[in-house]
Amino acid sequence: MGYELDKDNMILPGNFQIPIAKNCNLHCHYCGFMDYNGQGLQTIDKSMNLDDIKIIEKTILDLGFKFSSIELFGGEPTINSYFTEIVEYLATRKGIFFNKLKLFTNGLNMTKKVVGVLNHFDRIDISTYPIENHTISEYREIWDSSNIAKKLSDVDVCVHGRTHFFHSTDFELPKDADIKKLFQACFQKDNCRVVTMDGIYRCGMIHHEKTEIYKYDKKILEDGFINNEDEPLKFCSSCDETKVAYLNQTNDTSAEAYLQWKRPNTKEWVSNNPKVDKRNYERGIELIKNYE
Ligand SMILES: C[S@@+](CC[C@H](N)C(=O)[O-])C[C@H]1O[C@@H](n2cnc3c(N)ncnc32)[C@H](O)[C@@H]1O
Ligand code: SF4
Ligand code: SF4
Repeated sequence: MGYELDKDNMILPGNFQIPIAKNCNLHCHYCGFMDYNGQGLQTIDKSMNLDDIKIIEKTILDLGFKFSSIELFGGEPTINSYFTEIVEYLATRKGIFFNKLKLFTNGLNMTKKVVGVLNHFDRIDISTYPIENHTISEYREIWDSSNIAKKLSDVDVCVHGRTHFFHSTDFELPKDADIKKLFQACFQKDNCRVVTMDGIYRCGMIHHEKTEIYKYDKKILEDGFINNEDEPLKFCSSCDETKVAYLNQTNDTSAEAYLQWKRPNTKEWVSNNPKVDKRNYERGIELIKNYE
């Protein structure tokens, strides 16, 4: 595209997830993107191709912005057939369209082609699940001793065991709860912004609810992400995140604290399609073991 950043482009702070894949090779019950509220609802409109990424980039640059950090997301981003093309292109846009490039993946589609572009990421988060009789530590051990891990020694890779998932809660906030304070404790508001073709959602929950989108407009984005960044959205008062923040009464917004919060409806991870997930897990493990 040959598009260069104007010196005055303003950084949109925080982490912006780009859900490039509508589909997934796993079927986690209650996944916010694939099975919202356990009702089988997929919340991603379309899988993106390189042109979609270029359109989003042009829109952001034309408005005079640049993302602090972007994270390829889904669904499972590595199963998008344009994954490597998208990553190779984005690798040339660092410092122009965004500063940091990240990936969130279930780490089960490590084909030669996919692994070939992983060095372009600053950070890779891998989620691993207790699929049938396989354990989180099994995945970790296989990953840690793999040639892929060795090849990625310069990339910040973190393997997260996901043994429990957050479900929706029946708990209701008291009428006098301080929503602004609870919003400030929310991890998602800064780290889980969701970029779509139509605009940007402040967090995963707002995205899944398809409400209060920040359209691609200079003033809207500047107000939402910079001028009024501590202003709760309307949906926050009915969101599970403010409810768990209320129950935990903490100002610690770190990822570690967020995961350790007491959550009234945290349940053991289960699959909606155990047979397919077992097959895809075992295929994924073989890919990792056999990578040379
Ligand atoms: C939506 S997935 C997309 C990337 C990739 N498929 C993966 O699983 O890492 C991103 C993260 O959201 C987490 N996630 C999705 N729904 C969740 C839920 N209901 N409770 C807790 N974590 C959830 C996943 O475990 C994963 O770590
Ligand atoms: S691996 Fe699970 S959490 Fe990740 S997108 Fe697929 S169904 Fe959702
Ligand atoms: S809607 Fe929920 S997740 Fe989103 S910013 Fe508000 S409290 Fe956080």
